[in-house]
Amino acid sequence: MKKKLIIAGNWKMNKTPKEAVNFLEKFLINVEASKCKTVLFVPFVDIEACARLIEKSNINIKIGAQNFYWEDSGAYTGEISIPMLESIGTQTLLVGHSERRINFGETEQEINKKVKRAINSNLDLTLCVGETLEQRDSDKGQESVLFQLKNALENVPKSLIHKVCIAYEPVWAIGTGKTATPYESNKMCRFIRMCIEKMYGSEVGLYLDVLYGGSVNEKNCKSFFEMSDINGILVGGTSLREDCFGEIVKVADNLMAERSE
Ligand code: PGA
Repeated sequence: MKKKLIIAGNWKMNKTPKEAVNFLEKFLINVEASKCKTVLFVPFVDIEACARLIEKSNINIKIGAQNFYWEDSGAYTGEISIPMLESIGTQTLLVGHSERRINFGETEQEINKKVKRAINSNLDLTLCVGETLEQRDSDKGQESVLFQLKNALENVPKSLIHKVCIAYEPVWAIGTGKTATPYESNKMCRFIRMCIEKMYGSEVGLYLDVLYGGSVNEKNCKSFFEMSDINGILVGGTSLREDCFGEIVKVADNLMAERSE
């Protein structure tokens, strides 16, 4: 697959706005000449500072939010809406991360509401799916991923599915140092592509972006980039260090240069 590689970072609940700007000032040097699509999902409070810095630099990197609410305004204490996020420069959204599903009890139905609201905005989104260790061990990995896909994308029309990127993140590989092997993750990413093709038609499966996430770092990233059905990665812990995250961008760029030779 000769698509542009996507490198997405998820900072989770890390970095103050000052630390975020500090990171970006060093990190942007790595992405200046990059041909990859780079994305950073940062805490709400960091978005505006990051977006401003990037706007000034003209560098190809998107700033995203890790969560949002599906209503635009109203009596929803503590929540943040898409129009609010857009107003501070947010360019993309993350939905259904397993930490939100597991630690904050986010349901399939809530994820579906968020997806439907997001596709009707100007922002694109990355939907996370992935099986737990228990599901994997009982051979229910594909079944649970399909269940999440079907629920999250219920009533999402074909005309808007191009706004959705899928991140396959096996729960047991997140923050554990354990990665699915590139072969295993590629198999699941291919399965995801096939599910989307069945739901929306083969042409959609071809242009769908599918990422792998779970303990990816600068040393193992190449083995995922080389896989036929993976066209990017979602990186947690390693995205917090500008040197390591920058190295990942370099690895991806070198690979893209080799491919175009
Ligand atoms: P990790 O996290 O790279 O630290 O395993 C990935 C993620 O949660 O997106």
